[in-house]
Amino acid sequence: MCGIVGILGRAPVAEQLVDSLKRLEYRGYDSAGVATLEGEHIERRRAEGKLKNLEARLRAEPLAGHTGIGHTRWATHGKPTENNAHPHATDRVAVVHNGIIENFRELREELEKKGAVFKTETDTEIVLHLVDSYLARGISPVEAVKASLSRLRGAFALGFIFAGDANLMIGARNGPPLAIGYGKGEMYLGSDAIALGPFTDTISYLEDGDWVVLTRDGAVIYDKHNAVVDREAIKHSASTSLVDKANYRHFMAKEIHEQPEVVGHTLARYVDMATERIALPVKLPFDFKDIQRISIVACGTASYAGYVGKYWIERFGRLPVELDVASEFRYREAPLRKGDLAIFISQSGETADTLAALRYAKAEGVHTLSVVNVATSTIARESETVLQTLAGPEIGVASTKAFTCQLMVLAAIAVAAGKARGELSDADENRLVKGLVEIPRLMAAALSTEPQIEKLAREIAKHKDVVYLGRGTSYPLALEGALKLKEISYIHAEGYAAGELKHGPIALIDENMPVVVIAPHDKVFEKTVSNMQEVAARGGNIILMTDARGAAEATVDSLVTIVLPDMASAFTPMVYAVPVQLLAYHTAVVMGTDVDQPRNLAKSVTVE
Ligand code: F6R
Repeated sequence: MCGIVGILGRAPVAEQLVDSLKRLEYRGYDSAGVATLEGEHIERRRAEGKLKNLEARLRAEPLAGHTGIGHTRWATHGKPTENNAHPHATDRVAVVHNGIIENFRELREELEKKGAVFKTETDTEIVLHLVDSYLARGISPVEAVKASLSRLRGAFALGFIFAGDANLMIGARNGPPLAIGYGKGEMYLGSDAIALGPFTDTISYLEDGDWVVLTRDGAVIYDKHNAVVDREAIKHSASTSLVDKANYRHFMAKEIHEQPEVVGHTLARYVDMATERIALPVKLPFDFKDIQRISIVACGTASYAGYVGKYWIERFGRLPVELDVASEFRYREAPLRKGDLAIFISQSGETADTLAALRYAKAEGVHTLSVVNVATSTIARESETVLQTLAGPEIGVASTKAFTCQLMVLAAIAVAAGKARGELSDADENRLVKGLVEIPRLMAAALSTEPQIEKLAREIAKHKDVVYLGRGTSYPLALEGALKLKEISYIHAEGYAAGELKHGPIALIDENMPVVVIAPHDKVFEKTVSNMQEVAARGGNIILMTDARGAAEATVDSLVTIVLPDMASAFTPMVYAVPVQLLAYHTAVVMGTDVDQPRNLAKSVTVE
């Protein structure tokens, strides 16, 4: 999940490469580098850590070449040092790589026997030496890359430039995405449309197994059988300026605050406000009446959205749903019934495990539906049906607005399923849609808890561990709250189903343990109150997130009660997500961590 970019330009490209890398930094920020052709020679500038280090290096030692490649790294093989930073280069060729070369050990042994000297700990370096070994024998760059690609196993997007040929760049894709950008007398390669946004609005996506030869006159694309193919050029609307933070200190804060608006946009795509009916924007190629079981598959936060979706679909559609994290689903070889439905949820639409799970499901003959934020992503392109979330670009590595938009789409799916299966009447549908229409306003009201949460965050930041509890649809939200807190504040946190507490985790509770209880006044509220009593009896510090009725009826002393708007509908997770996200955000700010780019993480996980 590194980001790669390449430019065949008409002027020096180093600055443009860095501009593009800024837009790709969400894919990894362990190190960054660029290589350009200076005359006949390849020159590189690389730096450990964030892009600003590379920018400083380039200010001190500028590059003037018109042909170049760049890379921002999320380390897989080898530490995040400057030496392991891409591009990797010999005197003949330079390469940038996103992905993992699985057979790198055997290739490395083979190349070492032939005299190649490896200088880094990366798997990428074998690609470099492989291509270089062909070039050394006088084979042309195009033939050298073609021969090398046939030897590689694994997931990769690659970009190459060659010493002595300033009008040539080669790209290849097997797994992670790679786009070609078309300019006037200029050509580009990039990991996504956002990377190429400042340069061109016309792009083609390579398909799996494709590779491309670029010159300033255009692109020749080959498929995995080395036959020349056409890949449709599409107009994209990724904005030309770098998405900015507006007046917020962090992208994450901006994205939390944008939620009423983007959840509202998503809602408007899925319901007909005039008739108060669900109106999916595409015709489904199946009937929910014929589906016996749904599998929902996703990773991380998206899987917690899926968990909430399971509760809703089972409740409104009376339809059994299995939820899997994608990394398990793909290898446990889940038996699927032909004609059933699998739903894949992904913000980026590029997550390797989710994509592999989708391909597995397709091969098993089930209908595939993806809920994705990036409409041009691989998961979107490979799914039978796509239901897009309209969250807009999510830059903060910790997912916030994509999560609540996913919930909105899943709510629409659940009601549509209930209606199609005769489990919901017209009146039920109207009532539920009315509930959905209220969500953006209720989320805006939930944002007003921020000053109280900011204060609470200063208390939470004093602790090493936090427990989150919830029942029903608040249980996946407890899991999400714990994930959000640990990933950005580095405070250890665990989420539990409130009823599970007494089966083990209660041993953790003492007077030092903050326990965040997510408990809207719903049909399981009283049960959750009993669980809170168990915590209070052991001296745990309860932070209760509830509504006015819940606050009045909770018979337990809490350290803090955060009162959210009363809501009649079952769609509380979208509203309660707001204080849960704000608590993680403000705690991280107090801890002084890098909120938007927390350590060891990347936004788009395109490796297994
Ligand atoms: C956590 C987070 C991750 C992602 C997960 C899936 O805040 O963002 O857990 O949800 O990596 O990513 P997508 O949705 O792009 O498939």
